[in-house]
Amino acid sequence: MKIGVLTGGGDCPGLNAVIRAVVRKGTFHYEDGFVGFMEGWRGLLEDKTMELDLASVGGILPRGGTILRTSRTNPGKYPDGLQRCAANLRKHGCEALIAIGGDDTLSVAAKLFDAGVKVVGVPKTIDNDLSGTDFTFGFDTAVNIATEAIDRVHTTAEAHNRVIVVEVMGRAAGWIATYSGIAGGADVILIPEVPFDIDQVAELIRQRHARGRYFSIVVAAEGAKFADGNEKHDGTSTLQGGRDEFGHARLGGIGATLASEIEKRTGFETRSVVLGHIQRGGSPTAFDRVLATRYGLGAIDMVHRGEFGQMAALRGNKIVSIPLAEAIAKNRTVDQEILDASTGILDTLDYPAPGVS
Ligand code: F6P
Repeated sequence: MKIGVLTGGGDCPGLNAVIRAVVRKGTFHYEDGFVGFMEGWRGLLEDKTMELDLASVGGILPRGGTILRTSRTNPGKYPDGLQRCAANLRKHGCEALIAIGGDDTLSVAAKLFDAGVKVVGVPKTIDNDLSGTDFTFGFDTAVNIATEAIDRVHTTAEAHNRVIVVEVMGRAAGWIATYSGIAGGADVILIPEVPFDIDQVAELIRQRHARGRYFSIVVAAEGAKFADGNEKHDGTSTLQGGRDEFGHARLGGIGATLASEIEKRTGFETRSVVLGHIQRGGSPTAFDRVLATRYGLGAIDMVHRGEFGQMAALRGNKIVSIPLAEAIAKNRTVDQEILDASTGILDTLDYPAPGVS
């Protein structure tokens, strides 16, 4: 069978491992041929292709990025965009398409499926905010990078008696902030799911220092929000502005805003660092290489079982097939048990609690 493959949306460590697994199993087990559509949906819209065979996937397992390259192109924004995509697949004799991406990429895949294209999806995003799957690949790598950064920031904060705010990615969900915050022993973790009161954050840090600590680490997801809808920062960057073709604002700046508000309220010297795309670059962790490989193998098997309009998903420790519609229905926010773990390990305000000695 001839199968098209593309990677869309923000890149993510492990994309090459998925591509490699699809091509290797497809070639050796099913005698498939592949067409690589380049730069996400743009390649399918504009018919930009590359050869995708055993030779082209050689040596790519540990490499970050994606050999197919990527973009945030949305065919829905172009006249006859979906029809053009379907026509280009036909032109290359592709009977099926494997689309590797997050909610935006997979929402286009679902529309193409409704239009009659045989599509299988693979869940990708460092944000881990896709529904229907326990983990997306790339998340573990991002968490490890953020944790290492928090460890490093700890020693310099400690040396200077400072508060340091670490801004991590996470537009609508605080998975990276929560996991790296727990793993890195942060003192405050701020995520989009739980709007924060800046006075309480400052007071918690003040009380911690009154108990003898002389530095603090705050981890904030880029999409973290002030509880009062603080006009000083609505989560969107004033520097960059702009929206992508899927309507998402570019985020950034919460770390700097928080640092100045904390310093103002506590008098403690405060700095901020933005990890940004460092979290998306470089080599995937072993966990992500294995997960991405399993997703790729799952996707090519799904194509041959005729499970179209479906996405490979991780449930428990099994790769299963779920409807694309379920994966894109809503953002998957941090679940209660993990939220409880993050609050359970942090200092509480007004410790010792009233009446407890
Ligand atoms: O969607 C993944 C993500 O890394 C988000 O966490 C972040 O807001 C966004 O991509 C950044 O996108 P770009 O690479 O287009 O700046």
